[in-house]
Amino acid sequence: MNASFTANHILDIASLSEEDIFYILKLALNLKEILHRPIPKVPTLRGKLVALMFFEASTRTRLSFERAAKSLSADTLSFTARMSSVEKGETLLDTILNLESMGVDLFIIRHAMAGTPHFVAKHSRARVINAGDGFHAHPTQALLDMLTVYQKKKTLSGLKIAIIGDIKHSRVAHSNIVGFRKMGSEVYVAGPATMLPLEREALGARVCYRIETALDQADVVMALRVQKERHGRALLPSVREYAQEFGLNLKRLELAQKDCLLMHPGPVNWGVELAPELQNDPRNVILEQVENGVAVRMALLVALLGGNA
Ligand code: CP
Repeated sequence: MNASFTANHILDIASLSEEDIFYILKLALNLKEILHRPIPKVPTLRGKLVALMFFEASTRTRLSFERAAKSLSADTLSFTARMSSVEKGETLLDTILNLESMGVDLFIIRHAMAGTPHFVAKHSRARVINAGDGFHAHPTQALLDMLTVYQKKKTLSGLKIAIIGDIKHSRVAHSNIVGFRKMGSEVYVAGPATMLPLEREALGARVCYRIETALDQADVVMALRVQKERHGRALLPSVREYAQEFGLNLKRLELAQKDCLLMHPGPVNWGVELAPELQNDPRNVILEQVENGVAVRMALLVALLGGNA
């Protein structure tokens, strides 16, 4: 464990201090350079074993953690619930304890059930990183989003962050509201009334029922995917109407600052939350978010597993 970093696990943004967050962002900026070397690999975490435990689908989070671990020379075990003994009824705890017996130093966990990474952290000797738990939290996404904003705007305070879409079911929205507010920015959220919960307001975000209010002079505009898999019942008349009312396009972005950043955690439904005309827009930093995701996850692995980067 590094002396300047106080967290044992990365379970949510709320439990990280402002200093912890800056520590990770600055370490990520240093480590990012490794990814551009002809051989993008350093021996920092040689001998460490990282288990990627994905009980829900993922492309960016899973593969960027794998890329991050391999760039630091850690070994990885890749677990997917399908085709594992979970299908025969093995419990989560037994699964974790068995992998711990194989020498796992750190679990990276994505699960549909909110609180699962906290449960594992309580029962395991290993370090734990939350890679997304239900609609609760996605701290590594918020950290990579903060890194992208910090890199572009040179600050994380005094900014207006607009988050548009399915706020209620989004763990990304939850973690970003907590994170950007902690770092001194204002967060405005807008979306269909059925997707705007009051508890998000309790986190300190300003809830807007008109998208224009959220977009007005925003420094950062973040669109979210409609999380159909977490709805349980129809919350939208149709996807086409969602695109008309809340989809971002060139015209709507005119309301934001001229040099605003257009962000999305992915996967993007082009033509729904973002118009295809924004794919090559200079304000679009979506693929830079993905690259920063590898750097942030490298920083988290080093911070938790104690390598000398
Ligand atoms: N942003 C994000 O969590 O993407 P994946 O679901 O592909 O990991």
